[in-house]
Amino acid sequence: MVEKDYLLSPSILSADFTQLGDQMKQAEHAGADWFHMDIMDGHFVPNLSLGPALVNACKSVTDLPLDVHLMIEEPERYLDKFAAAGATILTVHIETCPDMDKIQKMIHDLGCKAGITLNPGTSADEIQPYLKNADLVLVMSVNPGFSGQSFIPEVLPKIGQIRKLLDKINPDVLIEVDGGINPDTIRQTYDQGARVFVASSAIFKHPQGIQAGIESLTEKL
Ligand code: DX5
Ligand code: ZN
Repeated sequence: MVEKDYLLSPSILSADFTQLGDQMKQAEHAGADWFHMDIMDGHFVPNLSLGPALVNACKSVTDLPLDVHLMIEEPERYLDKFAAAGATILTVHIETCPDMDKIQKMIHDLGCKAGITLNPGTSADEIQPYLKNADLVLVMSVNPGFSGQSFIPEVLPKIGQIRKLLDKINPDVLIEVDGGINPDTIRQTYDQGARVFVASSAIFKHPQGIQAGIESLTEKL
C-alpha cells in the first residue's frame, strides 16, 4: 500500500448544524485529517457564516487541527478571538491584508500557524513576498462565499506555479485547495502539487453519507 501523502480538511459549512458534533465524528472516523472552518463577514464575501463560538464548540468535539479560513475584512481585529477559540491555523486573504508581514507575525505570536490565501483572480506574484513566513498556502478554486460552486479550472496552473516558488523559498509548506473539490476535480489539483484538500458539499451532501463522500475523494488520490 502506498503511504498517504495528502491531508483532507472537510469544510463544515455544508454540514447539518443540528447534527454537527455527530457529523464531525463521522468525518473523523472516515479519515478527515483537519476540519476547515469558513468564517465570512458579509463584506469581503457576500455571505455570513460562523464565528469564534462555533470554532470553540468544534474544538470541544475533536482533537484534529482546526483550519480556520478568514474571509473577513480587517482580520487583525479578530485573530486573538479565533486563536482563543482553538484555531490551529489562521488563514488570511492577501486581498484583505495590506500589511501581511504584520499579520503573519501576529498569528505566530498567538501560537497559531499562518496560512495565506488568494482569490482565483489574484496572481501568485502577490503572495510571493510572504511565502517565507507562511506555514500553508491556500489556493481558492472558487470565488469565496458559498459552498457548492463549480471548480474554476483556470487556477490549476497557478497551483503549479506556487509549488515551484515554494520549492525554492519554503519547501516544507503545503498547498491547500478550496472550492469545487469533488471526485472529478481533486486529482488535477493533486497533479499540480496540492496536498491538502478542502471539500464541503462533496462530503457533507454526498447522497450515500459522509464516509462515502470521503471515500469518493480519496480513491482518486
Ligand atoms: C468557499 C469556502 C469553501 C467552501 C467549499 O468560500 O471557502 O471552503 O465551504 O465548499 P465546496 O467544497 O462545496 O465547494
Ligand atoms: Zn474555505
